[in-house]
Amino acid sequence: MNSKHYYNPKGEEILDEKIFGGNPSGFVDFNRSKYKWDSNIYDLMNANTWFPSEVNTSTEKKNFEQLTENEQAIYKMTFAQLSFNDSAQEEYLSDFRRLANNRLIKSVISLQIMQEVNHSKSYAVLLDACGNSDEVFNLYKYNDALNTKNQKIAQQFARYIDGNSVDKMLLSAMASVNLEGIYFLLGFSYIYLLGDKVPGARDMIKFIARDELNTHLPLFANIFKTIKKENKIQTSTIDSVYTMINDAVNIELEYGNYLLSQYPIMGVTPELMKRTVHNYANDRLKKIGLDPIFTQSDTTYLQKLVTKHLNMNEVKSNFFESNVSNYAKSSINLDDF
Ligand SMILES: [Fe+2]
Ligand SMILES: [Fe+2]
Repeated sequence: MNSKHYYNPKGEEILDEKIFGGNPSGFVDFNRSKYKWDSNIYDLMNANTWFPSEVNTSTEKKNFEQLTENEQAIYKMTFAQLSFNDSAQEEYLSDFRRLANNRLIKSVISLQIMQEVNHSKSYAVLLDACGNSDEVFNLYKYNDALNTKNQKIAQQFARYIDGNSVDKMLLSAMASVNLEGIYFLLGFSYIYLLGDKVPGARDMIKFIARDELNTHLPLFANIFKTIKKENKIQTSTIDSVYTMINDAVNIELEYGNYLLSQYPIMGVTPELMKRTVHNYANDRLKKIGLDPIFTQSDTTYLQKLVTKHLNMNEVKSNFFESNVSNYAKSSINLDDF
């Protein structure tokens, strides 16, 4: 590796560093943030720091055993898939970070990497308490629907990360918007539907969902918008962005419909899932500055469940009560740049 990669006194001014393509000096200076939203998101991520040991999982095994067979299957298939998402995201972020230029953006991604590892650890802690860790983490070997969803997510990550062009970086950022903003959402809502029956799982998902939706999604939405603003992006690339989110909607619904057909639970219907995922996809398009393309419905019950658990005032656990002032910072306008 060239030493300029680490120290480059003749490199560009920190405030001139674009997200992609440039010649950085090698310094991380939080007092000179080109975008503002980057250091705001960093502070919010830091303020939200939590550890899996702070969730009470002592009754998880007993609670799990009292679920119906279908509910147990949904629980296991959901965690089997969500845990893959975090494992993949950690590795993808390391690759994206290596190709990026702006040192402050790279620093924020470093913290996100830590949080994704924390999510992986939290699944392990929860499933260990539940007594089915090996079974759940190995489900991908035996279940075609799960394996297919994971494979398609991995392909979306891999498709553009190897190319050093701004258009490919933009599409690569879109893969991350899909992961944070689409692939987790039905899984989160299933665990919230089980709710009080499995409070350990529910509380763990609350923490994870807050990281994904309050900071990781805004981070990559802003990265996407900034790459688009700083470079001349081809129209065909934007067409590919629409294709990618359409694929993401199909991937999410395919797995959702499979779970529902195998293990029907609690009033969830294919129509409800479709309206939910379409609404989310429209919201994600708006967040990245593009026009929504899916049929918009009224906010669904599943969306309301997810939003309710993002609401800081709803939090009952001691941990959150002692940290509620930190969480209040989520009112920062993350799109302001
Ligand atoms: Fe995560
Ligand atoms: Fe994330």
